[in-house]
Amino acid sequence: MKNKFLHLILGLVLVAMATACCDKKETTEATEVRKGNYRIVDNTIVFDEPQRIEGQKSVLQFTVDPIENVRIGFIGLGMRGYDAVDRITYIDGVTVVALCDIEPDRVESVQTNILEGRGLPRAAAYTGREAWKELCERDDIDLVYICTNWQTHVPMAVYAMQQGKHVAVEVPAATSIEECWQLVDVAEQTQRHCMMLENCCYDFFELTALNMAQKGMFGELIHGEGAYIHNLEPYWHEYYENWRLDFNQSHAGDVYPTHGLGPLCQAFNIHRGDRMKTLVSMSTPSYKGKKVAQEMMGTEEFANGDMTTTMIQTEKGKTLLIEHDVYTYRPYNRLFQLTGTEGFANKYPVEGFTLLEDKLPAGFLAEGQHLNEHAFVPAEVRDKLLKDYLHPIAVEIEEKAKEVGGHGGMDFVMDYRLIYCLHKGLPLDQDVYDAAEWSCLGELTAASIANGGMPVQMPDFTRGDWNKVQGYRHAE
Ligand SMILES: NC(=O)c1ccc[n+]([C@@H]2O[C@H](COP(=O)([O-])OP(=O)(O)OC[C@H]3O[C@@H](n4cnc5c(N)ncnc54)[C@H](O)[C@@H]3O)[C@@H](O)[C@H]2O)c1
Repeated sequence: MKNKFLHLILGLVLVAMATACCDKKETTEATEVRKGNYRIVDNTIVFDEPQRIEGQKSVLQFTVDPIENVRIGFIGLGMRGYDAVDRITYIDGVTVVALCDIEPDRVESVQTNILEGRGLPRAAAYTGREAWKELCERDDIDLVYICTNWQTHVPMAVYAMQQGKHVAVEVPAATSIEECWQLVDVAEQTQRHCMMLENCCYDFFELTALNMAQKGMFGELIHGEGAYIHNLEPYWHEYYENWRLDFNQSHAGDVYPTHGLGPLCQAFNIHRGDRMKTLVSMSTPSYKGKKVAQEMMGTEEFANGDMTTTMIQTEKGKTLLIEHDVYTYRPYNRLFQLTGTEGFANKYPVEGFTLLEDKLPAGFLAEGQHLNEHAFVPAEVRDKLLKDYLHPIAVEIEEKAKEVGGHGGMDFVMDYRLIYCLHKGLPLDQDVYDAAEWSCLGELTAASIANGGMPVQMPDFTRGDWNKVQGYRHAE
């Protein structure tokens, strides 16, 4: 009897141990699952982060000696590249040394219509699919300016930096996490500039709002919203060899996040005192994109949802909302919005501010005028704010920028600032970490969507240096 009782106790203990053991195993399996280049740890997606290799140095606040005359080689002379060459010819202290496109007639058109048209010498011409390498290998170029399709940005930028050139590359700079790290690593290894050409950081309202935010007029910024909402239906046929629809057909997620994100990251001091830490993303199915792809590509499959919405939380707990929709019939909207503890700025569909009266200098409001804290400031106050708080960069160049043009002038402001900083040997307004942080949303959002909106840990491309610089500033 006593023996039987002991056996029973022993049996129960063994069962309990076995159960505990299984639970633990299950728990271990449930808390860490590998899927390709990321792990799911405690219900959060964590992408692999490569170590900095020996001899590789941070390029935070990176400068080179002043370049008196910036010699430029352009790669990609389609819709965007053609206009880029045109804009640059309005800046002093630059020479267009070389031009490259697959199509010879695109190179010739720039030579004739832009360079000769403005009385400038013809540039060296490179045509064909691989000729860009020869352009990068020239020893009389300082800057390679890349305006090709997304998939070619990183191979070209990396090769150019390895040939000792600085790089300016169109948006998004990279299409995957691996490519983002490649850009960062090669910029650090070669000690070259790599600036993504995020022009929306230079639109006049965004610059003014940034200036006001930096002066504390909105209090502490706590939430921002940005977007790329642009029905591309009239343009799908215009992209060379259908590269854009082709990319979207095979990629879920926010594949074009930088226009919305760039101006917000500057206002929120990203990797200058705060960092984007986690995101979650959700997407609708594809209705409209699929229809276009059926017509243009004869396929029933379309990975990119019509509407993709992403929430990002920063290390300090602030939130950013980013939207992507290039399919539906919504009016063009980049949604630029800043919410602070003491004020608010909004660009689309109407430009406006909500402010506390004590944030304004004495005498700013008319005698007896008061602000309603539940509404936008009156139009005349808004216009006065836009004038009085115009960003110093815009004050310097607005008139010429509006004359030269490019999305109302902001593209010219961007080129002007890039060349200005190179002329003066200053840090560029956007560094390679910005390029990686803003571009990485593509693959991160796709991973979140593929896992039912699971949180994704955002990589720290500065590898721990995000808090070294306090506050975003344009170098002077
Ligand atoms: N910042 C903005 O507001 C803005 C606006 C439009 C486009 N873009 C960006 O500009 C880039 C180009 O877009 P686009 O609208 O001009 O496209 P596009 O298809 O009109 O032009 C791409 C050009 O690149 C050339 N090209 C491709 N592969 C090449 C290679 N191997 N060697 C040489 N040339 C090559 C093509 O021949 C073509 O002329 C994209 O990254 C896009 O996202 C940015």
